[in-house]
Amino acid sequence: MNEEIEKIRQQALSELKQAQDAESIQELSVRYLGRKGRVTRFLRNISELPKEERPAAGKRANEVKTELESAFQDALAHLAEKQQEDEQAIDVSLPGRQPPLGTLHPITRTTRMIARIFERMGFGIAEGPEVESDYYNFEALNIPKNHPARDMQDTFYVSENIVLRTHTSPIQVRYMETHQPPVRIIAPGKVYRCDSDLTHTPMFNQVEGLLVDKNVSFGDLKGILTAFVHQVFDPQTSLRFRPSFFPFTEPSAEVDIRCVMCRGDGCRVCSDTGWLEVMGCGMVHPAVFENVGYDTDRYSGFAFGMGVERIAMLKYGINDIRMFFENDIRFLRQF
Ligand code: DAH
Repeated sequence: MNEEIEKIRQQALSELKQAQDAESIQELSVRYLGRKGRVTRFLRNISELPKEERPAAGKRANEVKTELESAFQDALAHLAEKQQEDEQAIDVSLPGRQPPLGTLHPITRTTRMIARIFERMGFGIAEGPEVESDYYNFEALNIPKNHPARDMQDTFYVSENIVLRTHTSPIQVRYMETHQPPVRIIAPGKVYRCDSDLTHTPMFNQVEGLLVDKNVSFGDLKGILTAFVHQVFDPQTSLRFRPSFFPFTEPSAEVDIRCVMCRGDGCRVCSDTGWLEVMGCGMVHPAVFENVGYDTDRYSGFAFGMGVERIAMLKYGINDIRMFFENDIRFLRQF
């Protein structure tokens, strides 16, 4: 009789070896250990055996039952483990994932474009601090205390004599203090004014320019700025130099270009004038040269200053300056 339980064991184990998935292992378990399973039936029929065979047969049948129970359990656990490994395995046949790539901010691009144009004309790059003293931001530029020109700029004061620079012009002074003519620089940088609407933000970017040498004339200024405008916009763009006032230049002018939107017919962008103001400029005021110790009999020069956001808005047809600072990548990706 013990031969029969051994045969059941052998068969169960060899069928288990063939089982490929959890379902067939479950099914085996039912077939051998279930309520009507072969091992269960064998145990139930032990009472029909001759009396002396019963203890040994019962003992062996229980051993087989326990052995099969753990064999089925182990097989299931092993299968689950293998499945998890497969799921974590790297599928080398899948296409790679694209790492998201950034782009240069339109203001960075515009600043670089402006710098490249002047660099080709022999200008170097100078920089200065954004937290500036009253002296460099105003005084040395011929804007004395209580001068009405200080009202033109809504200044952020850090303390009585320290400001967030309201323009990049102080870099002119710092540069001339430490360099002798000839001078040919541009100075890009952030500037700050307490101002906020469709065309103004409390922080914006400017590019300053300064050229000092012997015999520099207003004609040189016009030539350089005309060449610049023709490279940024269309080579056919007309310009006009409109008389204006800045304390640090004399004479001073505002540079206007023919409206890039309506080509001069008049539209909303140019307030129906047909012209767009793009920068301020002029011949360096003798008082500024005296402040930095330049000999006004030997040297003359011109300076100019423009807003980078304004140039970018005109070049790319953007009508709200705040777009530059919202960091919406749908906007930023277009440049
Ligand atoms: N600093 C002036 C401003 O922020 C711009 C400017 C005008 C700069 C004339 C210059 C200049 O160098 O010559 O409005």
